[in-house]
Amino acid sequence: MTLTSPGVLIERRTGSTGLPAVPAFNVVGLEYVEAFVGAAEELQAPLILQLSQNAVAYRGGLRPFAAAVLAAATAATVPIAVQLDHAEDVGLVREAADAGFTSVMFDASRMDFDENVEQTRAIADELRAQGIWVEAELGEIGGKAGAHALGVRTDPQEAALFVERTGVDGLAVAVGSSHAMRTREAVLDLGLIAALRDAVSVPLVLHGASGVSDERVAEATHAGIRKVNFGTRFNIEFTAALRAALAEYEGVDPRTYLNSARSALTADARRLLALFS
Ligand code: G3H
Ligand code: ZN
Repeated sequence: MTLTSPGVLIERRTGSTGLPAVPAFNVVGLEYVEAFVGAAEELQAPLILQLSQNAVAYRGGLRPFAAAVLAAATAATVPIAVQLDHAEDVGLVREAADAGFTSVMFDASRMDFDENVEQTRAIADELRAQGIWVEAELGEIGGKAGAHALGVRTDPQEAALFVERTGVDGLAVAVGSSHAMRTREAVLDLGLIAALRDAVSVPLVLHGASGVSDERVAEATHAGIRKVNFGTRFNIEFTAALRAALAEYEGVDPRTYLNSARSALTADARRLLALFS
């Protein structure tokens, strides 16, 4: 199936049954890709696969692993988008565009507002001319602490101005979640999500969804979130399954224990995709 973009998937979700949002799953290795694509095909559920700048660094470069992710997404029987996530390196953004990614999240949220606008607008102009869906991030005024520390909030008026000035297609907002949480205790500001939805003309993105309970994810999408990013919860599942498998296995065939870890990812991906569809 042809690769698609988050924008197309989000538009299709609007008005359908299930949550009015599309999940995005971060991949670290091929087992993740196989598990996520397999679960999406099984449930015939749309999905966004994300490769972060950190994951690219771990793999030692973009191309070889990205080629595998793009091939798996293209071969899938459901529409899948492939996004470069949390990219701060403009060179990497361009490489992803050349490689065939359908979307990019350019993350200048550490900059102050004006610098974030300037850098994001320049890259958004370039990517949109190539038909690539562009997500950016805006946290607190000044943004020095990063947008996704607990307690940081995106201001609706500032968000509206940011979207207008940059022309981005999606906006990651700080509404109470935080990256890399290992418990699902984050409390989201639903009133702020609704205010952001009313103020901003493009889809809102929730990052750090691993720290949010399924029930709160559902509430957030009903309040206005349209794309939900999950990463850490899969790493937790993968690691736990791997530990358990290795504790019982004395052999040396990685396929044995990696298969257990991959199955754990498939089961969790299935659970999440069912929540959305
Ligand atoms: O961009 C990726 C997500 O925000 C993942 O966050 O690892 O806390 O689920 P998480
Ligand atoms: Zn994120």
